Amino acid sequence: MATINDNYLKLKAGYLFPEIARRVNAFAQANPDAKIIRLGIGDVTEPLPEACRQAMIQAVEDMGNRSTFKGYGPEQGYDWLRSKIATHDFQSRGCEIDAAEIFVSDGSKCDTGNILDIFGDNNTIAVTDPVYPVYVDTNVMAGHTGDASDKGEYEGLVYLPITAENNFTAQIPSQKVDLIYLCFPNNPTGATATKEYLKAWVDYAKANGSIIFFDAAYEAYITDPSLPHSIYEIEGAKDCTIEFRSFSKNAGFTGTRCALTVVPQNLTAKAADGADVELWKLWNRRQSTKFNGVSYIVQRGAEAVYSPAGQAQVKELVSFYLENARIIREQLTAAGLQVYGGVNAPYVWVKTPHALSSWDFFDKLLHQVNVVGTPGSGFGASGEGYFRISAFNSRENVEVAMQRITEKFKV
Ligand SMILES: Cc1ncc(COP(=O)(O)O)c(C=O)c1O
Repeated sequence: MATINDNYLKLKAGYLFPEIARRVNAFAQANPDAKIIRLGIGDVTEPLPEACRQAMIQAVEDMGNRSTFKGYGPEQGYDWLRSKIATHDFQSRGCEIDAAEIFVSDGSKCDTGNILDIFGDNNTIAVTDPVYPVYVDTNVMAGHTGDASDKGEYEGLVYLPITAENNFTAQIPSQKVDLIYLCFPNNPTGATATKEYLKAWVDYAKANGSIIFFDAAYEAYITDPSLPHSIYEIEGAKDCTIEFRSFSKNAGFTGTRCALTVVPQNLTAKAADGADVELWKLWNRRQSTKFNGVSYIVQRGAEAVYSPAGQAQVKELVSFYLENARIIREQLTAAGLQVYGGVNAPYVWVKTPHALSSWDFFDKLLHQVNVVGTPGSGFGASGEGYFRISAFNSRENVEVAMQRITEKFKV
C-alpha cells in the first residue's frame, strides 16, 4: 500500500492566502455589486518593462530559426545572464561574487524551499515571527518540525519575534541555531536591515557554524543609500550565507518566472563524519538532477533588465510602486493609524485600530469598505494585531482604497 509524506498532515489547513480567497469569494458572491479592491497578495499589477518584452520577442524568433534555436540550456542558467547578474547586482557593490556562484532558477519561492534538499534533518532552524510562510511550511514538509500549537507555532522551530519594540529586526538568539532565514527588505513588515545589524548576524553565524538564508527579493525597493542590497556587502558573509534574489518584484516577473540563488564556492557545512563539504557542489548536483533550467526566452527577458533601457524601466516600475506605498503610508498616518515600512519596501505594516485582531480588521475592511489586505497573524503569532497592505496595484485602486479606509476608520 502506498503511503504519504505524513508531514504534510501537520500543515495548518488554512494557508493564509487560500483562507483570504475563501472569505473574499464568499463576500463577493453575497455582494455581487461590491467593487472589491485587493491589496492583499504581493503580486505585481503593471506590465513587463518594454526592454524585457522586446528581448523575449526576439528570443521567440531565435527559437524559430534552426541556426539560433535552443534546446536544453545549462541547468545553472546561461553564462551571459549569470555574468551580467554577477557584474551588476554584486561586483558593482563591491561583493566578490563570481558568475559561477549564481544559479538561475524559476523562482525564489522554489529555491527557498528546495535549498533544504542539501541540508541535514537535524539542524536547528530559526525563523522570524512574523515570516514569509514558505520558509516555515517547507520545513514542515521536510519533517523538520513537530506539530503546530494552537498559536500556529511548530514544535522544533526557533521563532524570533519581530515587533515594533525591536524595530521589526529580530534579536540575535542567545542559543545556537544552525540555519537562519532573514528577509530584507522584509515581507511582511517592510523593515530594513543596516550593515551593522547584518554584520552582527554574520558574526553570530561564523561563530556558531550556522548558515544564513538571506532573501533579498525586495532589494530593488531600497531607497536609502546607506542600506545594503546584498548581504555579501558585509565582510565575512561569503563564509556563511546563501542569498536568494528574484526578478519578480523588480521587473514584474511574477508570472514570467526567473530568479537566482547565490551559493559561494567556499561555503561549507558539515557531513555526518565531520568533514567540511562545499554547499556549491551539492546545490549544483541538486539542480542538475532535479531542474532543467529556465527557458531561453525568459532568460533573455531577464538579461534585458541589465540593459540601459531595462535599468531605467525597472527603476520607473519600482518608483511607481513606492509612490503607491507613500500614498498608503501618508493617508493611513493622517487617519491616525500607526504604520511601519513602505519606505524601502512595497509593504506597509499597519497596527490595527482599537486593538482589533488581525482577522477582525480584515473582515471589517472587507465588509465595510470592500478592501482586501492581509491579516498579520497569518504570518505568525507575533503578527497578531497588525495588518499588511501591499503597494502592488494601480494608482487609482490605491487612491480609492485609501479614501475608503480613511473615511471609515479615522482613529
Ligand atoms: C520574501 C519573498 N521571497 C520570495 C518570494 C517569491 O519570489 P518568486 O516570485 O521569485 O518565487 C516572495 C513573493 O512574494 C517573497 O515575498
